[in-house]
Amino acid sequence: MSFARELIAWYQANGRDLPWRATQDPYIIWLSEVILQQTRVEQGMPYFYRFVESYPTVSHFAEAPEDDILRLWQGLGYYSRARNMHKAAKLVLSEFKGVFPVTYADLIRLPGVGEYTAAAISSFSSNEAKAVVDGNVYRVLARYFGIDEAINGTAGKKIFASLAEELLDKERPGLYNQAIMDFGALQCKPKSPFCGTCVFQVDCQAYREGKVNVLPVKHKAKASRNRYFHYFIVQKDNQLLMSQRGAGDVWTGLYEFPMLETAESMTVEQLFEQELFKGCFAETAVLEPLGAITKQVLSHQNIYARFYRLDDAEKVRNKKSEWNYFLLEKLDSLAKHKLIFSFLEENKELINLKL
Ligand code: ADE
Repeated sequence: MSFARELIAWYQANGRDLPWRATQDPYIIWLSEVILQQTRVEQGMPYFYRFVESYPTVSHFAEAPEDDILRLWQGLGYYSRARNMHKAAKLVLSEFKGVFPVTYADLIRLPGVGEYTAAAISSFSSNEAKAVVDGNVYRVLARYFGIDEAINGTAGKKIFASLAEELLDKERPGLYNQAIMDFGALQCKPKSPFCGTCVFQVDCQAYREGKVNVLPVKHKAKASRNRYFHYFIVQKDNQLLMSQRGAGDVWTGLYEFPMLETAESMTVEQLFEQELFKGCFAETAVLEPLGAITKQVLSHQNIYARFYRLDDAEKVRNKKSEWNYFLLEKLDSLAKHKLIFSFLEENKELINLKL
């Protein structure tokens, strides 16, 4: 049996019943694919339902305020994806008369839609014969064919892309694409794949040569830099001081607590000696550490965050222009990044917030 036929047979017996597979609506498929580029299926599911419910059509999405979209996206990270989605939805209204495109050539014009997403949406919604190439596909092909060319190198990308197109079932591209992704996610997993029960055991080059655990090969990413973020909880009556992040760095436009950044790890005592700190807070300020240091890993950076409660709002000496007080009951409506809303979730009582 051919690779594609075997794969589809496996999928028909073992594939997952996922909500975005029950539709051919390219808008709904687009929502699911963008979410799934950011997170795993189980974690993406509640986001998917929230988006579909809030914005049942691309017009609803395009006409929503960007802040509402960011708030629904909250927790998925990489917020430029959500902004690009908004731009894409607006473009569908202006350039495609509100009809979400289904061809690869049209889809690839939308902001945030790359080769993978365009192939996924066009094959699932209109059965266009375009092969998806994502992490699952790289892994399955690298192992099955025993390819040790790095998947993130120029040569590797070409090899895998053309192999993927060649293998695609041209009669059933949508089905084939779903199948290879599920096969990668469920059977040919990154760690501890189920080779013992695999339908490709006999033909899989990596299995035959004992290379399952070394394939696929990937060039190492460059080292990440460490950043230390010190957040200050400043409460005045029933208001909290919040800061909106500027452009040109992570989390553009999202809200957080007022903060100072240092290039080195710091104790509270060391923080007090920083000119940055002295410029913002009075010498008599008292900082109470709340919780442990939280680490967040982003691409090329590790962020270490620590939260402190300032004893008295009057001890803010210089309020930066981006720092503003918000009523506690308004906090929920601000789009915040994950460090902040997780902190708020976990410390409601601690900081006495009525959220
Ligand atoms: N990951 C990305 N797209 C997916 C899909 N359509 N089904 C399952 N997992 C996916």
